[in-house]
Amino acid sequence: MRPITIAPSILSADFADFGGECRALAAVGADWVHVDAMDGHFVPNLTFGPQTVKAIRPHVTGMLDVHMMIAAPDAFLAAFAEAGADGLTVHPEATADLDRTLGTIRSLGRRAGLALNPATPAEVAGRVLDRLDLVCVMTVNPGFGGQRFMTEMLAKIAQVRVMIGDRPIRLQVDGGITVDTASAAVAAGADVLVAGSAMFRGGQAAYAGNLAALRAAAA
Ligand code: DX5
Ligand code: ZN
Repeated sequence: MRPITIAPSILSADFADFGGECRALAAVGADWVHVDAMDGHFVPNLTFGPQTVKAIRPHVTGMLDVHMMIAAPDAFLAAFAEAGADGLTVHPEATADLDRTLGTIRSLGRRAGLALNPATPAEVAGRVLDRLDLVCVMTVNPGFGGQRFMTEMLAKIAQVRVMIGDRPIRLQVDGGITVDTASAAVAAGADVLVAGSAMFRGGQAAYAGNLAALRAAAA
């Protein structure tokens, strides 16, 4: 079976202590840190920019995965890259020229990701697979943590898994991942699970147990 990566989303972290939260994640062996950058236009919520990424970078040991829920993302790609993002994931609806946006991410030396909203078909990723290092299947409508996993997206996860074939592209699932939904996402073909509320619930003393429970559910 392919190795599973858990990517805690700091959207559910303590906003007064991002450095401490990232150190606590590193201490329990979390693989990646997922940063949900929201602009208040593409999604109805406002969160982090490149300055936050720069501030947490020294406290993150693994891959720093920036999910850009930002209209016209091209204006911010270089800033997020310089701030220390390893991967930049964009939404196809947010950019007027997806090929150019994905090309810019790779020309910055970063891993290029494409996120598919629930209403966006898998074929949108299929057309640009050669420009991608990651496909993110959204299993909630983006904007907020703690929403319910949309089981009707399992078929899309399986469809993307077939499309990827033997290409070295990670298949991420984002939204509503818990100990109850992780196994279905992995069975459908996911190999990177974003976890916000399921990872951060209970505070730092609970992170080791939360991560172990997610890994066990995904195995
Ligand atoms: C939603 C974000 C997710 C969010 C997931 O727009 O993209 O990454 O943090 O949170 P949970 O795991 O609580 O659904
Ligand atoms: Zn996300």
